[in-house]
Amino acid sequence: MTFENLNLNSALLNALHDLGFTQPTPIQQKVFSVVMSGRDVVGVAQTGTGKTFAYLLPILRQLTFSSQKEPRVLIVVPTRELVIQLVGEIKKLTTYLNIRVEGVYGGTNINTQKQLVANGLDILVATPGRLVDLALTRVLSLKHIRQFVIDEVDEMFNLGFRAQLTNILDLLPRKRQNLLFSATMTEEVDELIGIFFNAPVNVEAVRAGTPLERIEQRLYHAPNFHTKINLLKHLLATDDTMQKVLIFGPTKRMADLIHEQLEIDFPDQFDVIHANKSQNFRMNAVAKFEKGLCRGLITTDLLARGLDVSDVTHVINVDTPAEPETYIHRIGRTGRADRDGIAILFSTDAEHDAQTAIETLMEKEIPVLPLPEGLAISEQLIESERSVIPEIQLKLPPRPVGAFHEKKAKNKKVNLGNKTKHLREMKYKKPIKKAPKRK
Ligand code: CDP
Ligand code: MG
Repeated sequence: MTFENLNLNSALLNALHDLGFTQPTPIQQKVFSVVMSGRDVVGVAQTGTGKTFAYLLPILRQLTFSSQKEPRVLIVVPTRELVIQLVGEIKKLTTYLNIRVEGVYGGTNINTQKQLVANGLDILVATPGRLVDLALTRVLSLKHIRQFVIDEVDEMFNLGFRAQLTNILDLLPRKRQNLLFSATMTEEVDELIGIFFNAPVNVEAVRAGTPLERIEQRLYHAPNFHTKINLLKHLLATDDTMQKVLIFGPTKRMADLIHEQLEIDFPDQFDVIHANKSQNFRMNAVAKFEKGLCRGLITTDLLARGLDVSDVTHVINVDTPAEPETYIHRIGRTGRADRDGIAILFSTDAEHDAQTAIETLMEKEIPVLPLPEGLAISEQLIESERSVIPEIQLKLPPRPVGAFHEKKAKNKKVNLGNKTKHLREMKYKKPIKKAPKRK
């Protein structure tokens, strides 16, 4: 199967040729004709398997030249980095097309963006907050949106964009096509689909939450944060395959702390970015990392989703994320587009439940490696570790050995499809009727 077999036009084929892409990925193959048919689509495929082009190609195939000022396609993503990335991807695909695309996001001058919108455009890529602000100024009309894409929707919920998203959906014309793509599905997302989508076609390349086979996963048990730092330093000092490393920490403060620590042993090799850094700094740091001008980037879940940096060699999770889906997205920053990748997880006893939840979601245990010989085990505790009473830690149940652990009912997050009603009922402890579908 090549792109020639899809019903594309020569402008798109030439752009794909310039990019060096000849074969559509499975999700791209599966989604194309369904989007072309005009039906609503929910697309699930693993990280890095080309979900972006899966929706962009059929959208661009259908978009005709127009001098109309109001956008006809709206794509909403959770972070500024993703807006920038997506606008870049659309520009690459539209080299031979006369299509106007703009990206808008918070943290930058709204008047400049008003001007961009007022100039007229075909495709608007936006973060939810800024989109609502612009729509309220009346500079931006969403009345002509025919296709609406939500990419990485679960992260929007995590970031508290729920109200904005509902606002946006209310501003859109009723007659429109809705497209949603993700590598994971949560109950909340499924509920949103139930309310705002019109009998969507589910296109699944794999079960939601399946990690890429090409990502080699490793797990180290460490007693506390400072031992994790010692381990991180040890790995970076001894493993020279760690060339383009993305390091995740749980919070902005902890990300800064990890950075401070690495500066001591590896000066000027790592950058740190999170929501408190300026937009310029964020953009430059990602660009520098993409170009391989630094060895690694330390970040928070701000960069866990969607970001497509080529050839990330290692993803290191200094903390074990409490939401198992977050882990899937974090490690999915490596192993992209048919490359191999290594994902390393550091886990304390207090994070054991989170680790089990991840393994349950993946239906796979992460192989455990012993701590390197001679690694300094730190006695020093950080504040959040001090507040855990040691006796409670001692009473933790022993780790499951051998075969795969039993699924805990609360962690069953697979096969959402028709079972979500049941799941929602479990969550809310009472029968729930689905809200009527909008026509
Ligand atoms: O959204 P998802 O995590 O599935 O992946 P993506 O951000 O669309 O990234 C897919 C990567 O594969 C990008 O670097 C694309 O340039 C590349 N690619 C593709 O999307 N489609 C192909 N047929 C070949 C390569
Ligand atoms: Mg994506």
